[in-house]
Amino acid sequence: MKIAIISDIHSNLQALQATIADIRKRKVDKIICLGDIIAKGYHVHECINIIRKECDVILKGNCDRHFSEELKELNLKREEQVYRWKQVNKTLTEDEKIFLSQLPFSHEFYMSGSLIRVFHATPERDNIAIINQDLIEDKYKMFLPSNKTESQNIADIVIYGHIHHQYMDKLYNKTLINSGSVGNSFCLIRNPKKDSDIREIRQASYCLLEGKYEDKEYSEPLSIQLIRVPYNLEKELDVDEYFEKDQFKYEVENGTYRNMEKIKDNFERLGIDIKKF
Ligand SMILES: [Fe+2]
Repeated sequence: MKIAIISDIHSNLQALQATIADIRKRKVDKIICLGDIIAKGYHVHECINIIRKECDVILKGNCDRHFSEELKELNLKREEQVYRWKQVNKTLTEDEKIFLSQLPFSHEFYMSGSLIRVFHATPERDNIAIINQDLIEDKYKMFLPSNKTESQNIADIVIYGHIHHQYMDKLYNKTLINSGSVGNSFCLIRNPKKDSDIREIRQASYCLLEGKYEDKEYSEPLSIQLIRVPYNLEKELDVDEYFEKDQFKYEVENGTYRNMEKIKDNFERLGIDIKKF
């Protein structure tokens, strides 16, 4: 059985279409989406429709939750945040808002012996960023259950999204995987003197599992692939002006986050100075 894990589409239609085509070519049986279908990119409705049609399991990302909630329920302080919320929220239909707001938080299944748990960001929150440089004990917490997970077992393999940065790590005999982002792929640690070809990061990324589904015995092989798919970025950006176009263009063209200053605390607590990258 082959299961594709996709995440963080962010309304990027060309990236999503190329990813789905690659998944189909590999004769995948199931597709799981880890959320953040919307925000940032232009093709909101098209991406929601494709995800609803193609995916077997769809989880809720922080953007799906945030922009489908009522403004009065949110604690938005800065004017620009309220403006952005209003712009994204008004592009959604009522049906889309209900669909996004009702998505589940997490999902799990066995494959070739391992309990595999998937969620958007962490077992408890959809907007906390665990990065690949994080401390080992913080990474270990990713395998623990919470009141939002389907079971109270400790997972063997965790696959998550949110950070838009694809990687795989091994700790305490467990495997931590970030599937990467389909439509907004970036690498947080960048340095022009050390970076490789920019085209490498400007691709859609996803994860593919192959093994025996719902099998609790370690009797069959398990394969984990991290896949990158080229797509037509120029065509994706050839759209009318909209409020977020410049920032989205900056991120997808450069493969980096729009505001490193805003997330510098994530690095500071690890002793990493982002200005010295
Ligand atoms: Fe995201």
